[in-house]
Amino acid sequence: MVSRNRTAKIQTLPSSERHYKIVLITSPKGGVSKTSTARNLAVAAAMDGARVATMDLDPQATLTRWWGKRPEEGVIQIQHHSASIIDAINALKEVKDVDLLIIDTPTSVEEYIDDMKRLILAADFILVPVGHTGDDLESVQPWMGLIRQLGKRAAYLLAKVNRRTSSFIQAKHELVETGELCPIEIPSFEDVHVLGRKGLGVAEVSSAKGGTEFTGVWKYVRHQLES
Ligand SMILES: Nc1ncnc2c1ncn2[C@@H]1O[C@H](COP(=O)(O)OP(=O)(O)OP(=O)(O)O)[C@@H](O)[C@H]1O
Ligand SMILES: [Mg+2]
Repeated sequence: MVSRNRTAKIQTLPSSERHYKIVLITSPKGGVSKTSTARNLAVAAAMDGARVATMDLDPQATLTRWWGKRPEEGVIQIQHHSASIIDAINALKEVKDVDLLIIDTPTSVEEYIDDMKRLILAADFILVPVGHTGDDLESVQPWMGLIRQLGKRAAYLLAKVNRRTSSFIQAKHELVETGELCPIEIPSFEDVHVLGRKGLGVAEVSSAKGGTEFTGVWKYVRHQLES
């Protein structure tokens, strides 16, 4: 944890130097749907008429590979950038002609804590995907504490959930004690990973399961960005 005085010295790109909003997707836990959230939120926002870019800061490049598989025609356009986490603030200057940038981050946040703090400070809104297992809940709440300590607006997003389990209900009750919770959760749906392998998002395929949920999450995020 850092004091407010120390964090105030961390440099960020002044928001006057950019003309788009930044949504940061971050969690210290692996496999909790960060990349799936980034790409599906990007598709939902673009379907809503926003000019959207994604940025992949994960050396595993899962988001970049997804973007590379997007069909050349017949799908909504999304701009894509990739950068190393240590160069992310500089890379923001390369993003032009969009309304929204969605940034996907790697799991190993502790290794790059100062870079992550810069990104958190640069973001307009932060989504913290989390599952409903005990391990997920324990790892994510200190991270939300840090984001809140930095004075930034953020919400947990329950993802890959099974709504019929008691642990899902318990997770909601636990998370609202330590942060905001996105009112729409993302269930575990085959379509999310099956369409992901084709470079698609669920909101752009009419019969796909999960499209309604990701569109709802986008509407929530849009409202947070506007208010
Ligand atoms: N809502 C969902 N329904 C079904 N499968 C999902 C869902 N969300 C994510 N997955 C699958 O779960 C796995 C992990 O998801 P994802 O890669 O988005 O997580 P991540 O947090 O980015 O992981 P990493 O920490 O490795 O970057 C992937 O195989 C993905 O396809
Ligand atoms: Mg990922």
